[in-house]
Amino acid sequence: MSNYKTDRPKFSLTTPLYYVNDIPHIGSAYTTMVADTIARFHRLQGKSVLLITGTDEHGQKIERTAREKGLDPQVHCDRIVTSFTNLWDKLNIKYDRFSRTTSTRHEAIVKEFFQRVWDRGDIYLSRQQGWYCVACEEFKEERELIEGGYCAIHTNKKAEWRDEENYFFCLSQYQQQLEALYAEKPEFIQPESRRNEVLNFVQKGLKDFSISRVNLDWGFPVPFDPQHTIYVWFDALLGYVTALLEPEQEPTLANALAKWWPIDLHLIGKDILRFHAVYWPAMLMSAGLPLPEQVFGHGFLTKDGQKMGKSLGNTLDPFTLVAQYSADAVRYYFLKEIELGKDGDFNETRFVNVINADLANDLGNLLNRTLGMLIKYCQGNGPQLSAADYGTDHSLKKIGSNLGERVTKAYEALQFSQACEEIFNLVRASNKYIDESAPWSLYKQDKQTEVEQILYAVLESVRLAAYLLSPIIPNLSTDIYQQLGFSVDFNNQTQLERTAPFVQHSQWGQLPANQNLQKARPVFSKLELPSNS
Ligand code: MSP
Repeated sequence: MSNYKTDRPKFSLTTPLYYVNDIPHIGSAYTTMVADTIARFHRLQGKSVLLITGTDEHGQKIERTAREKGLDPQVHCDRIVTSFTNLWDKLNIKYDRFSRTTSTRHEAIVKEFFQRVWDRGDIYLSRQQGWYCVACEEFKEERELIEGGYCAIHTNKKAEWRDEENYFFCLSQYQQQLEALYAEKPEFIQPESRRNEVLNFVQKGLKDFSISRVNLDWGFPVPFDPQHTIYVWFDALLGYVTALLEPEQEPTLANALAKWWPIDLHLIGKDILRFHAVYWPAMLMSAGLPLPEQVFGHGFLTKDGQKMGKSLGNTLDPFTLVAQYSADAVRYYFLKEIELGKDGDFNETRFVNVINADLANDLGNLLNRTLGMLIKYCQGNGPQLSAADYGTDHSLKKIGSNLGERVTKAYEALQFSQACEEIFNLVRASNKYIDESAPWSLYKQDKQTEVEQILYAVLESVRLAAYLLSPIIPNLSTDIYQQLGFSVDFNNQTQLERTAPFVQHSQWGQLPANQNLQKARPVFSKLELPSNS
């Protein structure tokens, strides 16, 4: 058996493998930020987590882009891949595997898988006629195209007519098995609206789809017929499997599948739902492999209420955004402001307002002024108190007591805006509580015990909020924790595992007595809109 098995529960998830026709856009950044938050939450709970991301580098789209730039496709891919890894670093994404579909290890996996499906009798040669959208790398039904023969997703790209011999995959053979899967495992496709889309699509009857191309060099050759190149989607989906190999392992399906398969969650955008929720499980069924647990299709982002696109000139550059406003601010906005699964909008004024209200004012300022008071009124010593010193009806203890459980449920259901809402209830209640109980006047009246009780309750609430927000805003949470005297770094997994068991830190009342609290200093400066906006 594998020698890297651990006793800890496992959780594995993927982002899509992004096309490298261009540097990453906000859509890819969005999926990746969400995936990173999920991964961080599971790690916080002590699970062994594998977050897979990567790039989809074959196919006509990439080949054409490289050719237009006068570059060898591989050189082009290598350049673009760097911009992905750079952006992930800037956004503080802690991925475990970066899967590139041009790797030689991947070729071995694709060939082995293709052979399995062939041996099963699920591949045949036939004639493919139809409209192809190169941007989607997908054949379209005529009724799916918009006026003038343009793709409904890439409205500036005309579909191209194809008439060629291709190898086909017998998708139609899997109609019943797929329907049984959706019925038996309703959580396989989420959210519900996406599941319904898939059910409608499948109900209309599945057609076989072509899995090879002729007149295309940029891809892996079909093992026994090198005139044909394996279709980019057939190749790309298997990138999830290749990613599971340990660095030194021989690239075989058996090795790749030994530890982490099946994947717990494929997080994708709604435009690539069919590939993940229909084609992929059918391919796996054909190869006799277990299926992933869940496919979650998130919504699309718009800017100022409009579809984003180069032709409209209203793209949102994730590099500029993170450089201008910081990773935590960007992460928080997209996680808190957009209900995962629904479409969501970015508006810069709203962005600045939300971040300033929540992170700078409600959370950052609260810590700052409470620590300031502590230094002034208690000579900087952490009060000798614990949860037991507060009655069950204490306003903050009441909210804080089962907050950890409620937020855990929200994270598990991928309801991040709900998680933030719950956490900020406590933060806002803490602001209200400190204003109403006015420790500054109690101090003047020599009511030292009461002052300490108030300050401890507020600091503890800030601590709990920071802990529960750490999958979303790891840098700010780390700063808050360190000011509260913990040597915890939410970006350092090894250290986190040693110091902070989830069951303890997710409860209200854990700030130890005599904690070595640090000097108050602002943890989050207010954002400002650029003067030209
Ligand atoms: N290469 C395929 C995926 C293969 S997975 C084995 C692909 N790549 S992509 O780069 O075009 O798209 C990546 C992701 O970005 C998709 O999940 C897509 O939904 C997402 N987005 C693209 N534009 C988007 C928005 N405007 N908003 C949110 N996400 C969107 O598809």
